[in-house]
Amino acid sequence: MRIGIIGTGTIAAAVVEGMAVDGHPITVSRRSDTKSAALARKFSNVTVADNQEVVDASDVVFLGLIAEQAASAIEKLKFRQDQKVVSLMSGPSLSELEDMVAPASAVANMIPFPGIAVGGSPILVLGDTSIVTDLFGARNPVFHLNSAAELSAYLAAQAVLSPTVLMVRGAGDWLGQQVQDAERGEAFLRALVGSSLTSAPDCRHLLQSLDTPGGYNQRLRKHMESQGILEQLNDGLSDL
Ligand SMILES: NC(=O)c1ccc[n+]([C@@H]2O[C@H](COP(=O)([O-])OP(=O)(O)OC[C@H]3O[C@@H](n4cnc5c(N)ncnc54)[C@H](OP(=O)(O)O)[C@@H]3O)[C@@H](O)[C@H]2O)c1
Repeated sequence: MRIGIIGTGTIAAAVVEGMAVDGHPITVSRRSDTKSAALARKFSNVTVADNQEVVDASDVVFLGLIAEQAASAIEKLKFRQDQKVVSLMSGPSLSELEDMVAPASAVANMIPFPGIAVGGSPILVLGDTSIVTDLFGARNPVFHLNSAAELSAYLAAQAVLSPTVLMVRGAGDWLGQQVQDAERGEAFLRALVGSSLTSAPDCRHLLQSLDTPGGYNQRLRKHMESQGILEQLNDGLSDL
């Protein structure tokens, strides 16, 4: 499969890192030349070209543009009927994109996260999942969504990541004041939280296993619940 990338920014560069190891021929657009040149230096199967050359050289074209820049960048390009387009952008919608890239087909809206560069990172997909699963499914869990409304809800809910990281960092700062090596303390907490979440079957079971009566986990959780942490989370998500 010949792959093209228009808009080689932060997320598209991570996407390229995540699939280049499989040896597909990948052509990336020249803009953000530090990133595109670095990818071409790192992977012999990655080449840099202008936008139309990227389209011409590809069976599948990924769009990694900022939504506001997409229309003006895409309208200058000529796509072919046999091509498939996968958008990494949270907008425009798939049907809007279909008009923009005609006669090519806009097959999927894929929302990756930066961890896709190394694998083990969840990918949200609206539309046809086959290309995304073929390219990334062996190394990353793919979540197929049913509607644009579901995609919006997932995009809002994933914002729990930042407060979660803030809590781990806060606990790391607290730990760092009690121990000699603060960095090692934070590394311990990151490994503990990450591995506990991924190894448990779900959050309900994990919470049960952390609910030893009078134990540290139960006491801290009850303290924070009594301060309204869940109400704050729900209010914050509803306001997004
Ligand atoms: N960052 C994330 O974690 C993440 C996750 C999922 C989805 N997304 C979505 O992915 C999209 C890109 O986000 P990002 O964070 O990667 O932004 P970004 O780093 O700013 O990337 C945008 C890229 O588009 C390039 N560009 C702008 N106009 C262009 C044109 N006419 N032709 C070719 N390239 C052009 C920019 O190049 P210059 O630098 O030269 O202007 C830049 O490399 C957004 O729609 C975002 O919502 C992001």
